[in-house]
Order: sequence, then structure tokens, then C-alpha cells
Amino acid sequence: MILVTGATGFIGSHTSVELLSAAYPVMGFDNFINSSKDVLPKIEVITRKSMPFVQGDICDVDVLRDLFKKYSISAVIHFAALKSVGDSVSNPTLYYQNNLVGLLNLLKVMQEFKCHHLIFSSSATVYGLGNMPPFTENMPREPINPYGNTKFFAEEIISDFAKSWADFNYVLLRYFNPVGAHSSGMIGESPQGVPNNLMPYIADVAIGRREKLYVFGGDWPTVDGTGVRDYIHVQDLAEAHVAALNYLIGGGGSNAVNIGCGRGYSVLEVVNAYELACGHKIPYEIIDKRPGDVAVSYADVSRAHNLLSWKAERELNQMCEDSWRWVNLNFSKFKRV
Ligand code: WQD
Repeated sequence: MILVTGATGFIGSHTSVELLSAAYPVMGFDNFINSSKDVLPKIEVITRKSMPFVQGDICDVDVLRDLFKKYSISAVIHFAALKSVGDSVSNPTLYYQNNLVGLLNLLKVMQEFKCHHLIFSSSATVYGLGNMPPFTENMPREPINPYGNTKFFAEEIISDFAKSWADFNYVLLRYFNPVGAHSSGMIGESPQGVPNNLMPYIADVAIGRREKLYVFGGDWPTVDGTGVRDYIHVQDLAEAHVAALNYLIGGGGSNAVNIGCGRGYSVLEVVNAYELACGHKIPYEIIDKRPGDVAVSYADVSRAHNLLSWKAERELNQMCEDSWRWVNLNFSKFKRV
């Protein structure tokens, strides 16, 4: 059984779908702090497979231990964590407590039950501001916020843990910018509150829930002055987890791997692509830069190709089409906020 912590979250739910579709038995685990239990039946409808599930918190080691006692867990894909950069700045101790104590609990129970394989949800945020794109995995990690620090510290904890247990192997997947939704329109991203990230905010404008997009900076040294990022379709990202699991189960050595498309798009290029997808204009206003932003971020993805035999297949237009289908089918009833 593959344990997916954070199984009802944005990336966790899409990864559970791809694992089930690849005939892996999946055990879901979540506390619904940033997701809904409504996702569970949708995962089963999409895959026509059942997925046992336990509601719980990774900070409760007894709940984790009971789960490992009851189910034979052969590998873990660990998504369960708090992930808002802004919230982490205003509440760092909550982020260190949840993201790191949760990980330490998981590693302890994995060793008790001789569960040897871990895939960890890391982030390109660990690269910080000092590196020049394309980012390679051996570049210095210099996170600039508590959220990024939790990912960096988690990577170090996992690396040290692996040095103490020869049978254990892991892959750290450093996501760039996950966007889009499942092509069925049944699952997708539904951030609570005001979206921090670009595409969910654009989606809110597209369905009329928000008046306009505020573009953070129009004079960056980029193709059109707006920020450039490596957007990756969430289904491509989910498929990368299946590739990483196949790699680990096949005896692959522990490593860190960038997961992106290997190219960047500007904010205005994303806006234009979304307008084509939704069929109407997305009003926007260019305002001051957001603190902590970089001009350009995109991945060198050669290690993902060579080590995991994986590459992203879906282009920006499909990311926008699938995002639009998801919000138009599920949220267009909302009135403007
Ligand atoms: C993308 C571009 C903004 C919103 C963040 C986290 C990172 C990871 C992915 C978890 C930038 C611009 C955005 C808006 C805008 N999350 N923008 N108006 O900042 O690259 O990365 O999400 O791991 O940890 O830092 O993504 O979507 O916030 O921004 O102009 O309302 O869109 O300036 O150029 P980012 P983002």
C-alpha cells in the first residue's frame, strides 16, 4: 500500500488519481486543514478504484502508528504541510511545528515499521534569490522565508535520516509552479481565502469572483517586464510522483529532482493564454513588485529526464483550459467578492 499524506490537497489528490490509475493501492491521509473530504468520492469516480482513507494529523504520532499497524505501507508520498509563504512569515512557529514535527513523526514510524521508500514534496523556493536560472539541483539552497526554510530543513532531516538507515531511499521533488486541474473538471485547486498564487487568482477574475488581477511589477528585466515562472500542469506533476515511486521501488538511489517544464512564461503570457481558454478578457492593473519575488525562475529538468525517465507533456494552453473548466464547472455561481 502507498501512503499519501495530504491526499485530498491540490497535488495530493491528483497524485492519488495517477497512482490508482497506475494500479498502485493507495491509502489516503489528511486532516482537511486546507482541503475538503468531498474530493474523496471524486478520486474514486475518476479512477473507478477505491481508496481507503484515514482522517488525521501528521503531528499526532499515535494516529500515524495506528495506521501503520493496520495497513502494510510499503512507501510514503508526503504532501501534508502548510504551504503559504505569506502565512509562514506571520506565523513561523506554526510552520516549523507542523511541517517539521509532522515529518519527524512520519520518519520515526516509517523506521519502526520498516517502510523504506519516501517521496517528499519539496519546492523551488529552497533556491532563494541568489541563483541564476535555469536552476540545477546542485545550486546553493538559500530560502528567504519560513515556509522555504521548512522545506530546506526537511530536506536536510531526510538526508541525515537516510545516512542512519542504509535500507532507506528517498526522492525530494522540488516543484516549480504547479497549476491547472484534472482534465475531467472534477478536481482542481480551491485555495481558501484570497489566492496567493497567479493562476487561481486569474481564475477568480475569469469567473467574475474578483474584479481584476493585480500584476506585481511591470519593469522586471523580462520579455514584457512581468515576472517569469516555470508553470507545470498538476497532472504532469502527479505523473512525476509515479515515475519517482517506480524509480525508488526499482532500487534507485536517493536524490533531489527539479519538477518543472524547463521553460518560463511571463505573467502577461499567462493572462493571454487564460483569455484564449475562457473566451473573454482578464482585466489587470500593474502595481508595485511583491517583496521576495524574483524576476525569473525556471528549472533545469535534465535530471528528471535522465533519472526518472519523466518529462512534462502538457503546454500552457492546456493548463489554462483545464483550470478554466474546473472553475467554470464548480465555482461560477460565486458572486463578486
Ligand atoms: C507567480 C508570478 C508573481 C500573483 C509561489 C511560492 C512557492 C510555490 C509556488 C509552494 C510572480 C506574479 C502572482 C498575483 C502576480 N509554492 N503574481 N499577481 O511566487 O513563483 O511561487 O508559489 O511551494 O513556494 O513562492 O508563484 O503564483 O505566487 O507568482 O503578478 O496576484 O505571478 O509576481 O511573478 P511564485 P506565484
